[in-house]
Amino acid sequence: MPLKPLIKILTEAGMGSRRRMAEAIKQGNVKVNGEIAASFNHPIDPAKDRVIFNGQAVNLKPDKIICLMLNKPEDVVSTVSDEKGRRTVLDILPDKYKRHRLYPVGRLDIDTTGLQLLTNDGDLTYRLTHPRFEYEKEYLVHIKGSLKKEEKQQLERGILLEDGMTHPAKIQEVSLSPFNYSITIHEGRKRQVRRMFERLRHSVLALRRVRIGKLSLGDLKEGEVRQLSDKEMAALLNG
Ligand code: URA
Repeated sequence: MPLKPLIKILTEAGMGSRRRMAEAIKQGNVKVNGEIAASFNHPIDPAKDRVIFNGQAVNLKPDKIICLMLNKPEDVVSTVSDEKGRRTVLDILPDKYKRHRLYPVGRLDIDTTGLQLLTNDGDLTYRLTHPRFEYEKEYLVHIKGSLKKEEKQQLERGILLEDGMTHPAKIQEVSLSPFNYSITIHEGRKRQVRRMFERLRHSVLALRRVRIGKLSLGDLKEGEVRQLSDKEMAALLNG
């Protein structure tokens, strides 16, 4: 069997994101054939080697890679588990997907609806969430009233938040009730869209993500989920 770098083996086995796995290797939490792994690229032969992550054997011949698109409803958290017992994106998946070790790609706030991807592939997660790949994310926003011309320009140029200036954004007026604006950003800071509008004293009454890169939510209803085709996954990765 061809040899693969340790970090790829771990992400393909659904152990977590590339970043998380790099950290686990650095911290000495990964063993290969009984020895603590010293390098991310340690070559692994899936037919012969034994890899242990946090004391658990890693399945070196994992399931097929899958990616789901969910239209996340409100009151559902974008995490694998929740200490407050709230429903998670995994809880609301149909049973047929529950045997795959899926996890959400990035997060939506509990009160945001729309396009949430879930996958068992760490590389895909890394590509879609790392700022260096700059995926566009488009949101529909409902605010009371409308933006003044200068406010729209400020949002488009970049606005100062507690964690620094935002990158340029695209804003369009829409009439897709109840939404009255669409905003496209490249970053993924915590509650970023809400904070951008709140900075201008416009509270966001509803927020829905409708696109990531070339992938649109389309007419998927809230709470519904569908599996991406190989073609859609390839298109997503290509920009
Ligand atoms: N920006 C927000 O404010 N919330 C989200 O859920 C996503 C982007």
